[in-house]
Amino acid sequence: MIHLKQKNAFVTGGTKGIGLGIAQALLKEGVSVAITGRTESSVEQATKILAQGTIQDDAQILGLVADVRDYSSMADAAQKAIETLGPVDLVIANAGLGHFAPIHELSLNKWHETIDTNLTGVFYTLKVFAESLMGHQGYFISISSLAGTNFFAGGAAYNASKFGVTGFTQAAMLDLRSFGVKMTTIMPGSVATYFNNHTPSDADHWKIQKEDLGQIVIQLISMHPRSLPSKIELRPTTPNSAK
Ligand SMILES: NC(=O)c1ccc[n+]([C@@H]2O[C@H](COP(=O)([O-])OP(=O)(O)OC[C@H]3O[C@@H](n4cnc5c(N)ncnc54)[C@H](OP(=O)(O)O)[C@@H]3O)[C@@H](O)[C@H]2O)c1
Repeated sequence: MIHLKQKNAFVTGGTKGIGLGIAQALLKEGVSVAITGRTESSVEQATKILAQGTIQDDAQILGLVADVRDYSSMADAAQKAIETLGPVDLVIANAGLGHFAPIHELSLNKWHETIDTNLTGVFYTLKVFAESLMGHQGYFISISSLAGTNFFAGGAAYNASKFGVTGFTQAAMLDLRSFGVKMTTIMPGSVATYFNNHTPSDADHWKIQKEDLGQIVIQLISMHPRSLPSKIELRPTTPNSAK
């Protein structure tokens, strides 16, 4: 995917944080973008922010309420995106959350919410777009985490979900690349977002910023069709000295 104009993208969890940063970067390059979130209010607020940013040419913005844990809501959102924008060339499975607790304190609800959102949500996102991507030599990117390759205490649910996302995306890449579909897992370290009830502030200056993820996505989709960086670990250059 080298010519970005007139391409269409679908970003799950595009209402804030990394997903919003990726949507902003795509619109700047002339790619039309559908974003999803769980509520009318979050989606409406995000589409306003996107509309106020830089948009090249006549790239369109479409806000859709869809929960990645709900297959039929994802299938409806995919259909609306294709009907409104046209064939979807690029899908970013980004929506996710984090619950952190030692295993003896981890509730069943938190476990299921983590796995259903972070792992099954990525499976549903690919499932509803697989045929469209296979028909258009599309690109699928999942946002895993460094927690998808490094485990830590208190991370049982999150590590399980992100190790799962890494493995799922790499295996599915081996299934779909022979159909001309590219797939990449991006595994970031600390990013300045609203993740885990955080509010971004100046104190996050050392972290990766959401626009850095936008930049990586543009670089990936601009690469020559013959080359595929299938897994990317992205770290803050200088870790927080206070930690
Ligand atoms: N921040 C980090 O340090 C970091 C590091 C590595 C990986 N990540 C990963 O990056 C991804 C994005 O996180 P973020 O840091 O940008 O967090 P964030 O600022 O909290 O944004 C999370 C996004 O996911 C959406 N979302 C959550 N549950 C959803 C669901 N069930 N269905 C649809 N959308 C849902 C939220 O939308 P609504 O609230 O509008 O529903 C929001 O747009 C996650 O997969 C996370 O695990 C983050």
